[in-house]
Amino acid sequence: MDASTIRSYHALYLARAHIARSETLFEALVGCMRICVDELSATLAVLWVAGSEGDDLRPLYWLAPYDLTSCACQRDSTDVGRAYVSERSTRILSPLEAGAATVFSAYPAVKVSSSFCAPCSGKDGTICVMQLLTEQGQPPLADEECDMVEIMAMIASMGHGRDERPWQVRVPAGVLMSARDVTREFESGESVVQVLRGIDLDVYKGEFLVLLGESGCGKSTLLNIMGGMDFPNSGSFRFDGEEHLGASEHELAVYRREQVGFVFQNYNLMPNLRARQNLNLIGELSKNPMPTEEALELVGLGDRINSKPSQLSGGQQQRVSIARAIVKRPRVIFADEPTAALDYETSVGVLDVIDRIAQEGTTVVMVTHNEQICRMADRVVRLRLGRVYEVAINRKRAKAQDLVW
Ligand SMILES: Nc1ncnc2c1ncn2[C@@H]1O[C@H](COP(=O)(O)OP(=O)(O)OP(=O)(O)O)[C@@H](O)[C@H]1O
Ligand SMILES: [Mg+2]
Repeated sequence: MDASTIRSYHALYLARAHIARSETLFEALVGCMRICVDELSATLAVLWVAGSEGDDLRPLYWLAPYDLTSCACQRDSTDVGRAYVSERSTRILSPLEAGAATVFSAYPAVKVSSSFCAPCSGKDGTICVMQLLTEQGQPPLADEECDMVEIMAMIASMGHGRDERPWQVRVPAGVLMSARDVTREFESGESVVQVLRGIDLDVYKGEFLVLLGESGCGKSTLLNIMGGMDFPNSGSFRFDGEEHLGASEHELAVYRREQVGFVFQNYNLMPNLRARQNLNLIGELSKNPMPTEEALELVGLGDRINSKPSQLSGGQQQRVSIARAIVKRPRVIFADEPTAALDYETSVGVLDVIDRIAQEGTTVVMVTHNEQICRMADRVVRLRLGRVYEVAINRKRAKAQDLVW
């Protein structure tokens, strides 16, 4: 047996064990795609489902350093569309024929050299399509690898997908923020630490986005750039179309004051000021603030308006800090591990407040280490080594009260 056949069998062996351990088809397929990217020639993987409007297909989950949220393809064209409709796999292997219709033909950022699409079928037809890709400059997928991936998709569907209907994903609203190839490096003694290595990420109006990733991967650095507290070294960051790279300190200060609210892990309240005064400090600077009482009512602390931070519990202090973030009616709230210092029950109370703010249409970008909290989000973005590594769209958002850890 040659190396690629052995590699393919090994991947199938791992995938089979993972599928058996999985509770849902989604979990099974995500595991299979991670295995394919780790063990096979595939460098990108995308799970495609039906769009909730019209006849198009859209990504639900992907392993790729690009933001594919807005990508779409018709069911009657491209490799993905053909796999979806025919319930048979499609292969476009090396050399990628000139003019071959891969789904990414229309997305120049993604330079594809080979593509394999395996449909996952349930009783009402195709549930989703698992696509594996290689990028230009990489060895293409081998035929035997594709054979194994086809078997993986089939076993996963047999085990978990029998009663599933075709999955759907909502069409995203307009883009609020857009990061393209954002880099950030810091000098550390003699050396330079490259923290962000080319972030591509859009944040949509009204969405609840969760950022995950190992300690030190650059989550807070990215949040600081999006929140106008720091500049990228290169790339582009736009808020509502306005470019931040090259903006003056004054322009960034105006942006922070008028558009964004921050919630930090350690609350950052002024210790000598009462809850009301902590909010007024921010409200007085904004154009159209909410009445202080209303902001505190919204976080369930209408009766603690005169309390100082030392008279409040950790969860209450965090809720005051959320009230302080929303009092100016910001377009977006950035929350950096807002529940990391809180126990379970207090966390659920704080998350419920954040969820209600998100439900009312404020865009929320939240960093967390807690995988359970991801279930509340519209979209979960995992960073690794300073780039976007993985993105998942939740078909259904969980309520804070339903989270268990
Ligand atoms: N101002 C700075 N000067 C020098 N190095 C910095 C600076 N800010 C961040 N770093 C470094 O950048 C890397 C990423 O930091 P960052 O705080 O963004 O990580 P993170 O993903 O938020 O981690 P954590 O989960 O631990 O909060 C770290 O190695 C950190 O030491
Ligand atoms: Mg951090």
